[in-house]
Amino acid sequence: MKVFKLFAATAAALGLLAGAALADTVKVGIIGPFSGPFAFAGKTFKYGIDAYVAQNGDTVAGNKVEFIYRDLDGVDPAKAKALAQELIVKDKVQYLGGIYFTPNALAVAPLLEQGQVPLVVFNAATSAITEASPYVARTSFTMWQNTVPGAKVAAREGHEKAFIAVSDYGPGIDTEKAFKATFEAEGGKVVEAVRMPLKTTDFSPIMQRIKNSGADVVFAFLPSGPPTLSFVKSFINNGLKEQGVALMTTGDVTMEPDLPAIGDAGLGIVSTYHYAVSHDSPENEAFLDAVEKIGGKRSEVAMTAVGAYDGAHLIYKMIEATGGKRDPQAAVDAVKGLEWTSPRGPVSIDPETRHIRQTVYLRVVDKEGDTYINRETEKFPDQPDYGLMQEK
Ligand code: PHB
Repeated sequence: MKVFKLFAATAAALGLLAGAALADTVKVGIIGPFSGPFAFAGKTFKYGIDAYVAQNGDTVAGNKVEFIYRDLDGVDPAKAKALAQELIVKDKVQYLGGIYFTPNALAVAPLLEQGQVPLVVFNAATSAITEASPYVARTSFTMWQNTVPGAKVAAREGHEKAFIAVSDYGPGIDTEKAFKATFEAEGGKVVEAVRMPLKTTDFSPIMQRIKNSGADVVFAFLPSGPPTLSFVKSFINNGLKEQGVALMTTGDVTMEPDLPAIGDAGLGIVSTYHYAVSHDSPENEAFLDAVEKIGGKRSEVAMTAVGAYDGAHLIYKMIEATGGKRDPQAAVDAVKGLEWTSPRGPVSIDPETRHIRQTVYLRVVDKEGDTYINRETEKFPDQPDYGLMQEK
């Protein structure tokens, strides 16, 4: 009996050892801005991943998941391509994730099929990105998705003449098209549309053009970070509100970490977006608690953290479905149609576009005690990427 027990224990130990030796490491390369003016995005990508791992462990189907981070501090397609190539060839990653800016995503997409690597986009929001490769899935949002409800609200609230101000690149152009098509279909008129160079730092000339245009509402998009903060401050300092001009935006322009710097003058700014840090749900509370547990600050959480958190979920589901083997087509197929409850609310991956369907919320900048928030006031459930639908 004793001998048998010893034998069984030894066999179990050997089995464990063999199991441990067999367990592979699945590497996931994450590209994002970890330095420079958009470093908040990289930091919050990491918050989202670390929070997900804290809740779900670092092993999937017997495979240890290792995240490898690479810094891409701005719009730089050549560097994006080089970093992705290095991760694929040298580090032998099975998955790529992250990507803040659209041009960087479009530079990486052509490498995926040959490299046999799916890419889960955590932020970049131009509709066409998921069309650039069958191996792209996206857990963020698109400009069309967030702008169409915003344009409907602008018309419903009685605005008649709109001025569109966007950054002059992919997501800005999508915003302009989405707003114009929707607002004009609802009976409004776009009196002027301006595409601002990405490097613009002085917005006073734009504010003057808005004043001269006779618009009663401005719809604006710029990439979250220093450009959005400067734009909102310029709108406030140039007295447009006093002139009776309303500012409406996608939530990119009123991200929570910037609200304290905008201050009380920003109260009342209306936006449409898929995630507010103040979203009231058990999933969001658990997510924010997990962010704090891994050393993050609630005051720094932005939409990029939840894009990464849900992106990690998608990557875990892909690893689970393929048992940790490299099979990009099976991995991507496994998440088509996947539904879950995100910290932002109910979401699913559209099986045709591989883009996330989700509730878009109407929000208003408000104060809860001393904390500035985007208060959700209305829901537009199950919004698709209207941009990709337009092209069909
Ligand atoms: C993008 O480049 O696609 C992008 C960047 C920042 C945003 C939204 C979209 O806030």
